Amino acid sequence: MENITSSQFALGTIISKFNVPKDMVEEINLSYDQAKNLTPHNDHLAGKIANEFDVKNILSKKVNNFFLLCFKDYLKQICKDLWHIELHAVWINDMKENEYNPFHYHTGPTDLGLSSVLFLKKPKSYGIEYSNPNTPANGRLEFGGGQQDPLSISQLRVDADVGELFIFPYTLLHGVYPFNGTNETRRTMSYNCSLHAPEYIKSIPFKILKSYVDAVSKKEIENVKILNNKD
Ligand SMILES: [Fe+2]
Repeated sequence: MENITSSQFALGTIISKFNVPKDMVEEINLSYDQAKNLTPHNDHLAGKIANEFDVKNILSKKVNNFFLLCFKDYLKQICKDLWHIELHAVWINDMKENEYNPFHYHTGPTDLGLSSVLFLKKPKSYGIEYSNPNTPANGRLEFGGGQQDPLSISQLRVDADVGELFIFPYTLLHGVYPFNGTNETRRTMSYNCSLHAPEYIKSIPFKILKSYVDAVSKKEIENVKILNNKD
């Protein structure tokens, strides 16, 4: 029989997975474990999780830049290279057995943005599946696409490992199932960013652009210049 080759072309929302270096995961865990008086973030979140804390003030520049690069890469994948990224809220969820995160989506100061989930700690076991152990759900992160086409993939359930980072539009529904039978913690960090279309950036006088938004890279400034020159 001849070998058959194929290519796939997907339309719709993309979820991107990145691998975060082990030393960066350790750095974040250490900063979090040593931090004192972190501000609870529960009031801004859907999670039924007791320990959810704002970690904006404990992240190094290296970590912030890493997220910025991953968000940029995501924009490249969806052909929106020139959009501007503004890092926004970032928090850590320390999830214990029986806690869960109901399906939800994120919002921010802009209508469009990206969110992310980085896995920082994972229990050795998520415990007993109460039924259908062949399709486990305990501790899994699940995305629901809502795609109406019956032949499309409408949901994705992932059993992520420490160091895996998922990036997706913050309007995408997602949730986490509870787990049981362990005292170990499932720790994740989520970073949200706002997105600004190039047209919006163009509307800001170039001289004040740098002070108006956070973390504008040199390359983005050059891109804006190029766009401006086209007019
Ligand atoms: Fe979320």
